Amino acid sequence: MADLEQRILVTGGAGFIGSAVCRHLVRSGASRLINLDKLTYSGNLHSLHEIADHPNYRFVEGDIGDEEAVLDLLRGERIGRIMHLAAESHVDRSIDGPAIFLETNIVGTFRLLSATLRYFRELDSYSQQAFRFHHVSTDEVFGDLPLESGVFTEETPYSPSSPYSASKAGSDHLVKAWHHTYGLPVVLSNCSNNYGPYHFPEKLIPLVILNAVEGRPLPVYGRGANIRDWLYVEDHARALERVLMDGRVGDTYLIGGRSERTNLQVVEAICAVLDERRPKPDGGSYKDQIEFVADRPGHDRRYAVDPSKIERELGWRAEESFETGLAKTVDWYLAREDWWRPLREQRYSGERLGRSGAAISSG
Ligand code: NAD
Ligand code: DAU
Repeated sequence: MADLEQRILVTGGAGFIGSAVCRHLVRSGASRLINLDKLTYSGNLHSLHEIADHPNYRFVEGDIGDEEAVLDLLRGERIGRIMHLAAESHVDRSIDGPAIFLETNIVGTFRLLSATLRYFRELDSYSQQAFRFHHVSTDEVFGDLPLESGVFTEETPYSPSSPYSASKAGSDHLVKAWHHTYGLPVVLSNCSNNYGPYHFPEKLIPLVILNAVEGRPLPVYGRGANIRDWLYVEDHARALERVLMDGRVGDTYLIGGRSERTNLQVVEAICAVLDERRPKPDGGSYKDQIEFVADRPGHDRRYAVDPSKIERELGWRAEESFETGLAKTVDWYLAREDWWRPLREQRYSGERLGRSGAAISSG
C-alpha cells in the first residue's frame, strides 16, 4: 500500500500552485509523480525546470476532459492518489468569457471523476483502501464576507458570486456527490489567495510588481478596500501534501495564512519593498504609480479563512508571514525576468480584464 500512496497524479501541475506542488512532492520523495496538464495560457513548463529530468517525474500533455486518455494513464502508471488542480483560475477572465470555466472546471472535473471511478472499481480492495481523489478548491465558493467581521469555516454554506467561483462550487459538489453516491474516497481543500514565485502576471501581486518596475500604472479596483487573506504558495503546497496523504475521507479542509490585507495595503507593501530593493532613479516612490480604476463587477468585499482544522488535525502551519513571503516574491520577480518577460510579451501584456459590460455569449 505504501508504494501505491506514493504514485501520484497531479492535474494542472504546470500552473502556479500545481508547479509548486510538483517541485515539493519530488523533493520530498514521491516514488512516482505524473503531471497531467493541457498547457493553456497559464500552463508553463519553465516553472518545472528544476525537476524536469528527475527519474521519478513525468510530464504528460493532456486534457482532464479526455476520459479515455486519463483512464489509460491511471492504469498505465498504477496511480494511487490524485491531486486535482487543473482549472481556469482567473476571476476577471471568467467575467469576460465564462464558457471555458464551465467547460474545464465543471465538465472537465466530471470527466476526470468518471475516469477515476472506472479505474477505482478495477482496483483490488487493498489498493482501494489506499486510493484518494483530492480536489483542490477555493475559499471563493463561500462568497462575500462583511468587511468588519466573520470568517469562513468548513461549515460555511456555499454562496459563490463570480462565474469562476460558481464553476468551482459546481466542481466541489460533483466531487462530494461521487463520494456519497459511488463511494469514491475523496478529500477536499478550499484555500485563500496564494502568492509567490511563478505566479502568472494577470493576478494582483505579480501584475503590480511587473507594472511597477516597467513604470506603468498600478491598477487598484474601486478604492482598494476589498480584503483578501494571503498565503505563500509553498505553504499551500505543504498543506496540500498533508491533505492528500492524511486527510480524512469525505472531509473538507480550509487552508489560509491568517494574513488579511486590503488590496491597497498589498499594493503599498509591494511598493515599499521595491523602493528599498530597486530605488527609482528620480528618488520618488513606486506608490506614485497607483491608479484607482473602475471596480470589478460583483467584486466580493472580503475573504477570511479559519485554518484551525488543518492546523489541529494535520499539524500544518503557515511558515511565511505576509511580510517575509512578499519580500521573497518581489526578489524572485526581480531576479527572474527570464521567466516573466516572454509571458508579458507573448501571452498577456497587462491590459485590463474583466470589466465586460458586453453581452456574454454561451459559445
Ligand atoms: P493556474 O491558472 O496557474 O494553473 C492552472 C493549470 O491548469 C494550468 O497549468 C493549465 O494549463 C491547466 N489546465 C487548465 N485546463 C486544463 C485541462 N482541461 N486539462 C489539463 N490541464 C488544464 O491556476 P492556479 O492559481 O495554480 O490554481 C490551481 C488550482 O488551485 C485551481 O483549481 C484553483 O481554482 C485553485 N486555487 C487557486 C488559488 C490561487 O490563489 N491561485 C487559491 C485557491 C484555490
Ligand atoms: O481566494 C482564492 C482565489 O484568489 C483563487 O481561487 C483564484 O484562483 C485567484 O485568482 C484569487 O482570486 P482573486 O480574484 O482574489 O485574485 P486577483 O489577484 O485577481 O485579485 C485580488 C484582489 O485584487 C481582488 O480583490 C481584485 C483586486 N485587483 C486585482 C487585479 C488583477 C485589483 O485591485 N487590481 C488588479 O489589477
